[in-house]
Amino acid sequence: MLEFINSLKKSEKIRVIINTLLWTLWSLLGISIMLIALKIIELMVVNNAQVKDIYKYWVWMGAVVIIKGICFTFANTQSHFLGHNLLGRLRKDMIDHIKKFSLGYFNKERIGNISTVVHNDIDTVQVLLTDVICRMLSDIIVTIILGAGLFLLNWKMGVALIIALPFALATLWLGKRKEEKLQEINSADMSAMISNFVEYTKGIPTIKTFGDNPSFFKKVLVSIERFACSSKKTSLNTAYNIGKYTLFIVLGYGILIVYGTHLTFIKGISLVTFGKYMMLGREFYRPFFNGESYWINFIKFRDSYQRIKNVMEHPCIESPNITKCNGNYSVKFENVYFEYEKNAFKLKNINFEIADGTTTALVSPSGSGKSTIANLLVRFWDVKKGNIKIGGADIRNLEYDELLSKLSIVLQDVMLFDDSIYENIKVGKRNATKEEVVEAAQKAMIHDFIMSLPKGYETQIGENGARLSGGQKQRISIARAIIKDSPIIILDEATSAVDPINEAQIQKAINNLVKGKTLLVIAHHLKTIRNVDQIIVLKEGEIKQKGTHDELVLQDGIYKTLWYQNAEIS
Ligand SMILES: Nc1ncnc2c1ncn2[C@@H]1O[C@H](COP(=O)(O)OP(=O)(O)O)[C@@H](O)[C@H]1O
Ligand SMILES: [Mg+2]
Repeated sequence: MLEFINSLKKSEKIRVIINTLLWTLWSLLGISIMLIALKIIELMVVNNAQVKDIYKYWVWMGAVVIIKGICFTFANTQSHFLGHNLLGRLRKDMIDHIKKFSLGYFNKERIGNISTVVHNDIDTVQVLLTDVICRMLSDIIVTIILGAGLFLLNWKMGVALIIALPFALATLWLGKRKEEKLQEINSADMSAMISNFVEYTKGIPTIKTFGDNPSFFKKVLVSIERFACSSKKTSLNTAYNIGKYTLFIVLGYGILIVYGTHLTFIKGISLVTFGKYMMLGREFYRPFFNGESYWINFIKFRDSYQRIKNVMEHPCIESPNITKCNGNYSVKFENVYFEYEKNAFKLKNINFEIADGTTTALVSPSGSGKSTIANLLVRFWDVKKGNIKIGGADIRNLEYDELLSKLSIVLQDVMLFDDSIYENIKVGKRNATKEEVVEAAQKAMIHDFIMSLPKGYETQIGENGARLSGGQKQRISIARAIIKDSPIIILDEATSAVDPINEAQIQKAINNLVKGKTLLVIAHHLKTIRNVDQIIVLKEGEIKQKGTHDELVLQDGIYKTLWYQNAEIS
């Protein structure tokens, strides 16, 4: 809690203080109204006052009501400002942080977890700050002021006022452990349910084509039931604890009434003083009555804050910011070993070099690690052993943004944003001019198609390019790489999912993209890589052959087999 408050920006802290003071003033003004009302009763009953003696209290009362209203409006607006600023800032910080994670972080559970954090936990933390902390602090300040005042007025009544409080607070404290445990289980169940939902929704196209997968559907149902069940348990336990707590609080107020009546009868206090305890005693108890909702909010907060912290403290890809590229864009893999978190697949002892400005092709049966090699080069993951160098510098010593600026990767699965075609091409170079975008589109053989659309470059392409064919999406992604103009290009089966007509166009686009670059190409059709400088043949994560096409096709080995199989297919 304190840690969270400490982590706030200075301007946010100032807002919290102002807000607390405004709510305090608002409560104190409410109390003043009661005191004025009591004074009027005292004047009427005890002093037999006339109406004219009361006038000035009416004026006072009016003034207080108006100021109270103003306070309320200010405090509320402040809360909203603070809340929205905080929500925006936390989400922005989180996005900034998440994008620095290695791609290996984003497995199914973690994506579910991040959705929970962004949708749910950040909201919980914001509500706590704006609606709970400020109100609670102001309640506490008011209670201290009131308590001190009521003690000074009559210490015996003061004691009666607080006698049951320790018991009430002790019940909360004793129930804390179990409550926290249940809440933890409940949150884990929620996270699991969301992960399963996300996974299930992603699978809907497959389900529609191949029918439902009963075991996975059952898994989703089980996670829903589990969440419902643990929610019930948590609510029951909370209700039980709060019931006990409230009982003590009500009992405390009861004791105050009984003891106050007794003192009034034996003339220990006046009727007006008794009236003050009755009215102000309720105000004194306010934070304790609200204690239950504060408590629930705190437990939720603790849990949400922990999850936010887990994401925010997860290590990012280190970006040491020490080396800049030296203008040589050769790529070298030295004794590289790598394995995924949850998979038996291993890359072993990968050694090869792509000289600056030359082309190397990776060839293998599928699942042998070609894409993994490409992903290591862009640091989607980091190697477990060995190193990868660009121009002699270990990529882990290059500033991450510098590294990414030197590489373009064109994949089989194109990722496009739900925005205009223009903006999607500009992703490659944020400050590109309109002319540059058009030129890149021309080189990528997609300009004519774009111009044939009614809105041209401003056409919105729908979620992940839903309104475009595979080949069109691919050419937009190539235009993006052309405009980026990075010295190293990786093509990962860029043409394998398109029809022959599109393939020819994409091939032209690619030729425009790769002129004079250092190129790593992973090709589906071996005929497209026949003339490259070097071919590397992989199998099960290891390099089996290296050489030019003419050399490899003469050797008895995997390449020869693949070549003849491929020739039969194409
Ligand atoms: N993100 C991942 N997590 C775990 N295993 C993966 C991941 N991506 C690929 N693999 C596994 O690594 C192996 C090599 O995959 P990949 O490099 O994509 O092969 P290729 O591109 O040669 O077809 C496969 O067994 C695949 O299942
Ligand atoms: Mg692959």
